[in-house]
Amino acid sequence: MNVPLLDLVAQYRSIKDEVLPAIMAVIERQAFIMGAEVGQLESAVAALSNTRHAVACASGTDALLLPLKALELQPGDEVITTPFTFFATAGAIHNAGGTPVFVDIDAATFNIDPAAVEAAVTPRTRGIVAVHLFGQMAPMEALLPIAARHGLALIEDAAQSIGARRKVDGAWRMAGELGTVGTLSFFPSKNLGAYGDAGMMITQDEALAGRLRRLRLHGGSREYFHDEVGFNSRLDTLQAAVLLAKLAHLAEWSAARARHAARYTKAFTGHPDVCPPRTDPANEHIFNQYTLRVPRRDELQAHLKEKHIGNSIYYPLSLHLQPCFAHLGYAKGSLPASETASAQVISLPVFPELTEAQQQAVIDAVLGFYA
Ligand SMILES: Cc1ncc(COP(=O)(O)O)c(C=O)c1O
Repeated sequence: MNVPLLDLVAQYRSIKDEVLPAIMAVIERQAFIMGAEVGQLESAVAALSNTRHAVACASGTDALLLPLKALELQPGDEVITTPFTFFATAGAIHNAGGTPVFVDIDAATFNIDPAAVEAAVTPRTRGIVAVHLFGQMAPMEALLPIAARHGLALIEDAAQSIGARRKVDGAWRMAGELGTVGTLSFFPSKNLGAYGDAGMMITQDEALAGRLRRLRLHGGSREYFHDEVGFNSRLDTLQAAVLLAKLAHLAEWSAARARHAARYTKAFTGHPDVCPPRTDPANEHIFNQYTLRVPRRDELQAHLKEKHIGNSIYYPLSLHLQPCFAHLGYAKGSLPASETASAQVISLPVFPELTEAQQQAVIDAVLGFYA
């Protein structure tokens, strides 16, 4: 059986009658730039995320770049982050003029280790970018006091975690709700995916929201008048229309992912080799990825390929060891939990439309390899 890692065609077929009229409505009005759907999507995502403000932009990468630019980083200013994430997290720090400082992860959840963050703070530290990786939130209750104590911005890279929640001091808190700013990606493979690139910044801070709105529109609040040099990072109205139509399904899709994840975990729990991902009991995980740790990972990957089972390695080379960051001087072995994860992880199909038969084929292929 052929099981893709992600089946966007199946999803499109299931919502075609909702998405196509939404797209056509924008085309009929020819309102492509900052049309009404952009503001509607901002309001809907702010409501979902429990934030007062949402500012849509062109991608999840720009959603990181703009708030980092707002920090006005000077050469040598440091921003602490995880090396076990998609490249954009650290690339945005660099492109905003800062120096990424990588600290190790918690081996169980793959998320940044707050003790390592605390230990890395220096007089040059300006911010922390915590990533809510694979769909579960980093420990905000530990990160917020560190940021507060040292006067640092805390950016939540929630690209993979829209709608995820965590119990913080007894109350459910949404991804992006508690930090200085939360950043979202609507890259097509995300739980809420556009039909192209799209992103959003969410915040409680009105002044920051205003600054981000200016930065996404060439740094001006009035057309042709520029307070600072910004970017062209608007969200396309067509993408906003697609996302608005899809947003109505996000909760059911994330619940389906969680059900698939539970079925995988039941099948793999107790296996001597296959280690299912751990959900921190404080988290409600939305499973943008279902990521195993296994021995002989590359051989398993070749086996799955032979069986036509989609899979991917997120992420094969920890960011502190990427050639573009060689000048930062991190040695191999310096962040062992992240490096070990890179050698052991493999992500399996967990998309909402995955059928039971498809999932059984994945389980059989994985268990078959280690039998
Ligand atoms: C953790 C993380 N940060 C940032 C990004 C960047 O988002 P985008 O691809 O929308 O620019 C992504 C996604 O691709 C991501 O997974």
